[in-house]
Amino acid sequence: MSKAVPRPPEPHPSGARPPQLDPRAIPAHVAIVMDGNGRWAKARGLARTEGHTRGEGALFDTIQGAIEIGVRYLSVFAFSTENWRRSPDEVRWLLGFNRTVIRRRRDALNEMGVKVLWAGRAPKLWQSVIKELRAAERLSRHNDTLTFQFCMNYGGRAEIVDAARRIAADARDGRLDPSHLSEKSFHRYLYQPEIPDVDLFIRSSGELRLSNFQLWESAYAELVFVDKLWPDFDRRDLWQAIGEYAGRSRRYGSA
Ligand code: IPE
Ligand code: IPE
Ligand code: MG
Repeated sequence: MSKAVPRPPEPHPSGARPPQLDPRAIPAHVAIVMDGNGRWAKARGLARTEGHTRGEGALFDTIQGAIEIGVRYLSVFAFSTENWRRSPDEVRWLLGFNRTVIRRRRDALNEMGVKVLWAGRAPKLWQSVIKELRAAERLSRHNDTLTFQFCMNYGGRAEIVDAARRIAADARDGRLDPSHLSEKSFHRYLYQPEIPDVDLFIRSSGELRLSNFQLWESAYAELVFVDKLWPDFDRRDLWQAIGEYAGRSRRYGSA
């Protein structure tokens, strides 16, 4: 089957180009906690939802910047297993909004060669959202410019528990010898086993915590915290974080 040549991303309106870095210094997998939408809106006297709305453009710009600089895997936190604690109005709004974002952006992402994958728990999540995520996955499944993991009803501990459940079931049914379970084989039970560990973990809004994102995958990630609120974030902030990452020394416990 012939595949269309991916369309290059639109350049940033400022004309900014990605920094010239040694390709070996580019993180393969970047994970982002897109935080600060509510505070962005509050500072302007707007409803919290206005901040989420503005975050869509920040995300789309960041995806294009990830392609330009050569990131292979990008994971973003869109809705956590803890976000159900928000008001029913905000939860409803966020689920509907994310459903619309996927539908609105999937053709452009597909044309740029982006492969969309959903990571998260199905129970409780609206069927209409899952349907949209599955459609984007199907449409983009042969792409390989960038793999974009959209984390929706995702929790790092939930992911590990879900893996443990499937491991236990495989052991019970004789498909797995518990004494053979390793870190490598455990990884195959995560939501998206084709995605490698996180190299660079970014969080916007100045909060210094992981909030249950990509816990297993980020065991050795480099952390970069950015003070900007998510709606103000763009690809230049991603590139700056990657520049910082490139200057770090990753030792993995060695001397
Ligand atoms: C991030 O922005 C978006 C989601 C968590 C869905 P927030 O809504 O958490 O914004 P703040 O942290 O309240 O400013
Ligand atoms: C993390 O942000 C979840 C997402 C960005 C989707 P939160 O705003 O929900 O996290 P906390 O409450 O600061 O830990
Ligand atoms: Mg927040």
